[in-house]
Amino acid sequence: MELTDLLIIFSVLFFLCLWWRHLSKIRRGSKNQLPPGPPGWPLVGNLIQVILQRRHFIFIIRDLRKKYGPIFTMQMGQRTMVIVTSSQLIHEALVQRGPAFASRPPDSPIRLVFSVGKCAINSAEYGSLWRTLRRNFVTELITPTRVKQCSWIRKWAMEYHMKRIKNEASENGFIEVMSNCRLTICSILICLCFGAKISEERIKHIESILKDVMLITSPQLPDFLPILTPLFHRQMKEAKQLRKRQLDCLVPLIRNRKDFVQKGENPNSEMVDSLFGLEPNGRGQLGDEEIVTLCSEVISAGTDTSATTVEWALLHLVLNQEIQEKLYKEIVDCVGKDRLVEEEDVEKMVYLDAVVKETLRRHPPGHFLLSHAAIKDTELGGYAIPAGAYVEFYTAWVTEDPDLWSDAREFRPERFVDGDGVGVDVTGTRGVKMVPFGAGRRICPAWSLGMLHINLLLARMVHAFKWLPVPGAPPDPTETYAFTVVMKHPLKAIILPRSYVG
Ligand code: HEM
Repeated sequence: MELTDLLIIFSVLFFLCLWWRHLSKIRRGSKNQLPPGPPGWPLVGNLIQVILQRRHFIFIIRDLRKKYGPIFTMQMGQRTMVIVTSSQLIHEALVQRGPAFASRPPDSPIRLVFSVGKCAINSAEYGSLWRTLRRNFVTELITPTRVKQCSWIRKWAMEYHMKRIKNEASENGFIEVMSNCRLTICSILICLCFGAKISEERIKHIESILKDVMLITSPQLPDFLPILTPLFHRQMKEAKQLRKRQLDCLVPLIRNRKDFVQKGENPNSEMVDSLFGLEPNGRGQLGDEEIVTLCSEVISAGTDTSATTVEWALLHLVLNQEIQEKLYKEIVDCVGKDRLVEEEDVEKMVYLDAVVKETLRRHPPGHFLLSHAAIKDTELGGYAIPAGAYVEFYTAWVTEDPDLWSDAREFRPERFVDGDGVGVDVTGTRGVKMVPFGAGRRICPAWSLGMLHINLLLARMVHAFKWLPVPGAPPDPTETYAFTVVMKHPLKAIILPRSYVG
């Protein structure tokens, strides 16, 4: 390359930088423009800066919040992300102005393969498809009558869970908490969808496919710089192969159930039954592909979130035996030593509720909600929010905010009995102090079911066993990100039988 070529390239790059800085200044920071944010590089914005940090996005945002405050912009390649961190702005956007921020941004090409063109509750845009799918989900799974009708599933899964951890403890000397809880919750959700008690081996197979789906649909470089898409055609090929494996694994369950229902045996009693007859506006009757997507969504959305919460709760019970004893005493006062804890019992346990809420406050499974989008160009906090922007609610900050919580880093369930947690509304409707399930139109539709799974698992496990650290290997509370914020070194604990193990 000649010296003049180099000079030309450097001059072009130099003027591009100047132009970008000028553009960034006029686009960000002033009223009725995008919120301010870290200056970026031409074309790629903040993308390369984020990649070079080699830390997960949630940890980078935690630092940027200190500098840029309650609302700021990150330009990630072509994707404009507005990050909202303050309690007031989250409440304004999600609750006070209800539908304004209730949509979802476009799916990447790989995500579209798995969502069959956004035919999933979590990814559908705010509109009639989303409304039909969500209403059906709530009617089929979440109403009190349905929850009661399905209690046989939890009974079966819990019994199996307790036997499994007892065997694991006698074989290995300790329990691995997360893998056991994942398996149990996953089996409950599979059974809620298909009405079938399936083998542990098959549950593990479904679990691993859905984990791969979550991995492959996580944001990748071309999602931010679509110009690079042709270089990533191998990923698209892999995604299509994985989709085929997902269909091969779940379609037989759907077909079996369809045959069962067509024979007139027990129709309309499982979630999948309701999907056979559903005809969302503009889409016609749902086929196997859409049903696989909708059932996979239920299983994926409910497994890691709940299992992560049980793991963090048990970590604190292992580290703080006083809290564990207090919880054990409440359980025994309620059900005695030899009767099994039932679903109706956990509703009466005030301290259990406090332990679970404190866990969700201190360790929200997701530090962000799912990405939101405005239904049309609007404003928030005095800044412009274009309809195409990704609006990201960084809700983990709210539970660390010293203006809202005293000694926020401390794990203290008592705050929900007689402290700053009393009367906190976890749905965020009356104000945002902790919103582990989101708030407003897109709030997790299964939050009460998730709470039931967590409460029941925890109560059963603490009733039956005393949980202790493995001698010489104290638990390490370091966090890492794996779809939810989990323990980097999964919790291992030893268990001593206390009372009835069912
Ligand atoms: C501890 C347990 C759970 C937590 C912490 C949790 C949290 C969340 C969060 C933060 C969202 C996103 C809200 C938003 O974007 O504004 C969400 C959405 C969703 N969750 Fe959950 N969830 C839990 C359990 C479950 C369970 C058990 C299911 C299914 C049985 C489920 C199904 C869904 C669905 C379908 C959505 C999408 C809602 C929509 O876009 O309209 N979740 N959840």
